[in-house]
Amino acid sequence: MITLFSLLTFAFAGAPEDAYKQLCSGCHGERGEGGRGPMLLGSAMPRSKDVNGLLQIIRQGIPGTDMPPIPANRLDNDTLKQLAEKVWTWRVSGEASSAAGAGRGRALFVGKGKCMECHRVRGEGGTLGPELSATGTRSRDYLKTALLQPEKEISDSFANYRWTIDIPDNFLQVRLTTTRGEQIVAARVNEDSFTIQVRDKTGRLRSFEKSQLAKIEKNWGRTPMPSYANTFSANELEDILAYLSSLRGNR
Ligand code: HEC
Ligand code: HEC
Repeated sequence: MITLFSLLTFAFAGAPEDAYKQLCSGCHGERGEGGRGPMLLGSAMPRSKDVNGLLQIIRQGIPGTDMPPIPANRLDNDTLKQLAEKVWTWRVSGEASSAAGAGRGRALFVGKGKCMECHRVRGEGGTLGPELSATGTRSRDYLKTALLQPEKEISDSFANYRWTIDIPDNFLQVRLTTTRGEQIVAARVNEDSFTIQVRDKTGRLRSFEKSQLAKIEKNWGRTPMPSYANTFSANELEDILAYLSSLRGNR
């Protein structure tokens, strides 16, 4: 026990790979893929101007964040320099990094996020939410809010004009209960005094006589879109945003 303790309190001297493993991997991941700290491998490292700036960050940390300073008594100057050079080789250009991020974001869009259940991109996906093929013309802040606080968007763009029926941009969510007890959650497409037409999750249009329905519930001003605040890690959120920003029409 004593030897292990003294090892940890002496300055680290040795291969930069070992220094990374001991001092950095806990937050930045075994291979730089990120975790509690951001991804470093394949990142544009926007906070490091050059290899020297990166070295300064390691020595001084980033005040006000979880990135701690690593003082000289934990990492000697030679190893620090080698470590900074090694990590710097992981950096990629801003363009390459957002292209790679968009690729990962696309995988999250289809997989973990299940976004395609409701959204259509270039002809693929569901119709419960708006088509997103050109959503990259929106600001990053707008997209971030749409993901983290989806209800917030509605007051601006939906609450009022949801009262009118406008295909395909009206996403009023309705829950219909038939007299036989069947429940359908769907987006309203059209409605008159005697009938209502809806599009269900699979994209199928269905029409009901109101006399067949025991109940029609309408979620005015509410969205079926869940908040993704607790679904994605910070890295994943960046990737999804990079993907959404890359959608610029039917290219
Ligand atoms: C306790 C967790 C933690 C440890 C340990 C840690 N980091 Fe970090 N690191 C962070 C966090 C969090 C950030 C992002 C801070 C911010 O900008 O909000 C960060 C940022 C960075 C950046 C800035 C990237 C850019 O955008 O330019 C570099 C480089 C970096 N760390 C390298 C390292 C290296 C090398 C080590 C090991 C010597 C290390 N970090 C150890 C948490 C950690
Ligand atoms: C259960 C259905 C559903 C799921 C799942 C869903 N959304 Fe949505 N989303 C909607 C609806 C409906 C809207 C329309 C506005 C509203 O009601 O919030 C919307 C709006 C948006 C908007 C704003 C579009 C605009 O032009 O204003 C973005 C961006 C978006 N969603 C992205 C995503 C992403 C990314 C995912 C997956 C991580 C996702 N959505 C998952 C239903 C969904």
